[in-house]
Amino acid sequence: MPNVLASPQLGPTDLPFSPAAERNAAPILALLRAWLPPNALVLEVASGTGQHAQHIAAAEPGWKWQPSEARAEALAVVAARCAGQANVRPPLQLNVQVQPWPLDAAAFDAVFVANLLHIAPWEATPALLQGAARCLKHGGILAVYGPFIVDGEPLAPSNAAFDADLRLRDARWGLRSLRQVQDAARDAGLVPAEPCAMPANNLMLRFAAPA
Ligand SMILES: C[S@@+](CC[C@H](N)C(=O)[O-])C[C@H]1O[C@@H](n2cnc3c(N)ncnc32)[C@H](O)[C@@H]1O
Repeated sequence: MPNVLASPQLGPTDLPFSPAAERNAAPILALLRAWLPPNALVLEVASGTGQHAQHIAAAEPGWKWQPSEARAEALAVVAARCAGQANVRPPLQLNVQVQPWPLDAAAFDAVFVANLLHIAPWEATPALLQGAARCLKHGGILAVYGPFIVDGEPLAPSNAAFDADLRLRDARWGLRSLRQVQDAARDAGLVPAEPCAMPANNLMLRFAAPA
C-alpha cells in the first residue's frame, strides 16, 4: 500500500486551511458517531487538507482513521496535519477512478467522503461507489457529504451559484442528482438509506453494504 509520510518542510502554520471543512467537521462527527461502532475502521476518501481526519480522529480515539487523497502534495499536508495522532494511519494515495483500489476487500467498517462528487467528472461517482462496495465489510456504511440536487426541490440560491461556478471551471463538474447517485449505488450493490439534512444546504448520504 503506497503510503506517503509527512514532508519535513511542512509546519502547522504552512498548511492549507479550509474554513468550510472547519465548520462542517462537528456536524459530520455527530452523525458518524450515531452511525459507527466505537472501534470503527474508517477509510476517508479525498481527505483534502486533512482537517476532517484531524478533528474526527481526535474526538473518537477508538476509531482508526485511514486518510487518502489522489494528489501527492495533499498527502504530505494530511500527514503533517495529523502527525502524532495515534489513531490516524499514514495517508494513502487513492484516486477513486483507478480501479481496483489498493486496499483489501471487505476491510473497512465505513468509507467517508466529503465534497468530492461535484468537483470531479461523473465517472468518479460510480467509481467511488464500486470501490467502496468492494472494501466495505458486510453491513458497513458509505457516508457521502456534500450538496446535491434533489428531484422536485429547487436548489438553494447558494448551491445554484456554486453549481454554475463549478460548471464554468470545468464542464464535467457540477452538483450531482441524488436520484442518479442512488441509482449508481444500487448498481454497485449498495443499499441507499434516507439522506440526512446538514447545515448550509448540504446532505449526508448513507449507503449500506449488504450484511
Ligand atoms: C473540495 S476538496 C474536498 C476536501 C475535503 N474532503 C473537504 O471536504 O474539505 C476535493 C478533494 O477531492 C480530491 N479529488 C479529486 N479527484 C479525486 C479522485 N479522482 N480521487 C480521489 N480524490 C480526488 C481533490 O484532490 C481534493 O482534495
